[in-house]
Amino acid sequence: MSTHKIAVIPGDGIGNEVVPAAIDCLERIAELHSLDLEFTYFGWGCEYYARHGRMMAEDGLEQLAVHDAIFLGAVGSPEVPDAESLWGLLIPIRREFQQYINLRPVKTLDGVASPLAVKNPIDLLIVRENNEGEYSEIGGRMYRGLPEESAMQTTVFTRLGVLRAAHYAARLADSRRGQLTSATKSNGIVHTMPFWDEVVAETVREYPEVTLTSELVDALAAHLVLKPWTFDVIVASNLFGDILSDLGSSVTGSIGLAPSANLNPEGDFPSLFEPVHGSAPDIAGKGLANPVGQIWSGAMMLEHLGHPEAAAHLQAAFESALRDGFGTRDVGGTSSTSEFTAAVLTAINTLALAAEQPAN
Ligand code: NAD
Ligand code: IPM
Ligand code: MN
Repeated sequence: MSTHKIAVIPGDGIGNEVVPAAIDCLERIAELHSLDLEFTYFGWGCEYYARHGRMMAEDGLEQLAVHDAIFLGAVGSPEVPDAESLWGLLIPIRREFQQYINLRPVKTLDGVASPLAVKNPIDLLIVRENNEGEYSEIGGRMYRGLPEESAMQTTVFTRLGVLRAAHYAARLADSRRGQLTSATKSNGIVHTMPFWDEVVAETVREYPEVTLTSELVDALAAHLVLKPWTFDVIVASNLFGDILSDLGSSVTGSIGLAPSANLNPEGDFPSLFEPVHGSAPDIAGKGLANPVGQIWSGAMMLEHLGHPEAAAHLQAAFESALRDGFGTRDVGGTSSTSEFTAAVLTAINTLALAAEQPAN
């Protein structure tokens, strides 16, 4: 039996609804595939902050480091400034554990209508640089209260940072349809972007089967709305990738569907799996949250841990529940979070039984 130690941080808001939903599904999958998933819960987040003045334990990163993966809901609450909640938990995990790739699949799912008249199936991957770029720690609010008051933050692209994101994206494109689009803004305005373009182009030249298109991010956003099916792999900086991933998932139906994997590809540190969405305080506690993004992130975690069959089983189960019309309100259905989760559990069992039947 394969054993994996998984750190679970439900976090805030709907994290406390979608994480238990996904864990129920992961536990059933683990039983059926003889996996020993050892979940350890960490009650860190904005309530912890209210009690302790910090988002996680002082030695939080050391506690997480001994796990094989981290499964996170979301962090953020209207009671705590986002700068505190994000720089106090999510961002240090991404950086300390060198999770420099944020992989975000965007895919049409049967049973979920796009809000747009999308003509063809969408199946694309966003590779977001996850450690640097516009999210640098250099800068801050200056001269508070004085006439010179201002704010600035320096964008940092290192050759290594861009190169490793570009390699990862090019390898993925090479294994798929061979089309790589790089999100840029190098039309003379953003001075750091020509360097991004240069390093991406140099890197992708090593992949003769991959065609690289560099596209200005504003036009790229428009193309994601008008012809999203034409994209294969998109590589983007931290901020551009963040924005494009909410846009992409919404084009397929809802931000509630979108999964993500914050990866340390070398496996030196645990990787983190979380939905793309946040804590959604506007719907928290009402049973309205769509757990698909969290469940799908669970499937990505199984794949990462070396269990592609278990991952495919979980993926097929939530896709089947959506196809059968069990979607939550954000995708036009009427199910609550727990009704949808029950439908996924049923589909997990049904698919397992079907796999046992001899083909006739
Ligand atoms: P959000 O993603 O939480 O919500 C945006 C909109 O999408 C809301 O209307 C919400 O109801 C809806 N939505 C999101 N997830 C959904 C789901 N699973 N099912 C149905 N509807 C869903 O973004 P926001 O409102 O801008 O941010 C809220 C808080 O979350 C902020 O504090 C923000 O900093 C934080 N945040 C955290 C993460 C993270 O932890 N990874 C990511 C994004 C935002
Ligand atoms: C995401 C989120 C985070 C990001 C925020 C909450 C810091 O929006 O994971 O997409 O911008 O990376
Ligand atoms: Mn985001």
